[in-house]
Amino acid sequence: MIKNIEKLKNTIILGDCIEELKSVPDNSIDSCITDPPYNYEFIGQDWNEEEIERRTSRIQNSNTLVKNIPYGSGLAGGVRNKRWYERNRENILQYQEWIKKWGTELYRILKPGAYVYTFNSTRTVAHVQTALEDNGFYARDIIVWRRHSGIPKGLNVSKKLEKMGVSNYADWNGWHSCLRNEWEAISLVQKPLTNNYIETLHKYGVGLLNAQSENGFKSNIIEDVKRDKLEDFNIHVTVKPVDLIKQLIMLTVPLDKNYIIIDPFMGSGTTALACKELGVNYIGIEKSKKYVDIAETRLRRYDTAISA
Ligand SMILES: C[S@@+](CC[C@H](N)C(=O)[O-])C[C@H]1O[C@@H](n2cnc3c(N)ncnc32)[C@H](O)[C@@H]1O
Repeated sequence: MIKNIEKLKNTIILGDCIEELKSVPDNSIDSCITDPPYNYEFIGQDWNEEEIERRTSRIQNSNTLVKNIPYGSGLAGGVRNKRWYERNRENILQYQEWIKKWGTELYRILKPGAYVYTFNSTRTVAHVQTALEDNGFYARDIIVWRRHSGIPKGLNVSKKLEKMGVSNYADWNGWHSCLRNEWEAISLVQKPLTNNYIETLHKYGVGLLNAQSENGFKSNIIEDVKRDKLEDFNIHVTVKPVDLIKQLIMLTVPLDKNYIIIDPFMGSGTTALACKELGVNYIGIEKSKKYVDIAETRLRRYDTAISA
C-alpha cells in the first residue's frame, strides 16, 4: 500500500526492497544512491550472512573481505570447462533479472530527471546499466571511484609453474591472470526528462549535476576520498566512506530539506548518515535487522555528537 511520503522521510524500513519500494508514492524521490550486493550468486537468496561469517573467520585482521565478496564465488576456483562458463552466464543473467525487479519500482517512484547511482564491480557494472535501461532509465555515465588499493587476486603463473616443477618457469615472470583492481564503478542512469532540462528543473527541481568544483569542472573520476574510522559496533563488511556518498549527494541535489534521496540497500546506514550531515532527507531500506540497528545507532550517535 502506498504510504504518505512525509511519513517515509528520514526512516529506515526493515524489509526486502522489491516489496518495500511499492509503498513509496509515484514521482516522489529526487535521487537514488545505492550499493547493492555485487555477488550475483547470492541473489534470490539472502545477503548470505553465514558465508560472510565463514570468510571473515578465515581472514582475521584483513581488509580484503570486500574484494572477496564480489568475486569470491563457488565458481572462482573451478575448472574452466563449458559448464563453468554456462553457470557463470546463468548467474549474471539472474543478477540482471533481479536488478530489473527493483529497478521497475525505482523507476516509478523517482521524479523525471532524477539520477540513480549504483555501485558495482568493474566486471558486473555493464549488467547493472543494461538492466536499468530495460526499466526505462537512460544511461549517463560510469563514475570511477579510485581507491588506490587492491591486491592482485589471480594466478601468478611463473610461481605456479615453479611449484609444478616446470623448468622454464622464469620465462613467465610477471604474467598474471588479472590486473590489480584499483577502482569501483558507479553506474549513473537518469529517468527521462520532461522534454528538456529547463522544463524538468522547473517542474521537478532535478535533472542537472552540480559540476562546479574549487578546481574547475568536476570529472567522472572520484579519488582521494577521506577514509572513515569505523566504530567497533559497525560490523558490516562493505561500508562505503561517508565522504564519498556526500560527494554524490552534492553532485545531484541542492542541500535543503525539500529533497529526498533513497537507498534501497542501506547496509549500515552510510547514505542516511551522509544525508543527515548535509541536511537532505533520506529513505533507507535494508533486509537485515542487524544492519538496520547499526544504521540507527550511527544516526543517533551523530545527533548526540552535534547536540553536545
Ligand atoms: C553492499 S551492502 C551496502 C553497504 C552500505 N553501502 C554501507 O555503507 O553500509 C548491501 C546491503 O543490501 C542488503 N540487501 C541485500 N538484498 C536486499 C534486499 N532485497 N532488500 C533490501 N536490502 C537488501 C544487505 O543486507 C546489505 O546490507
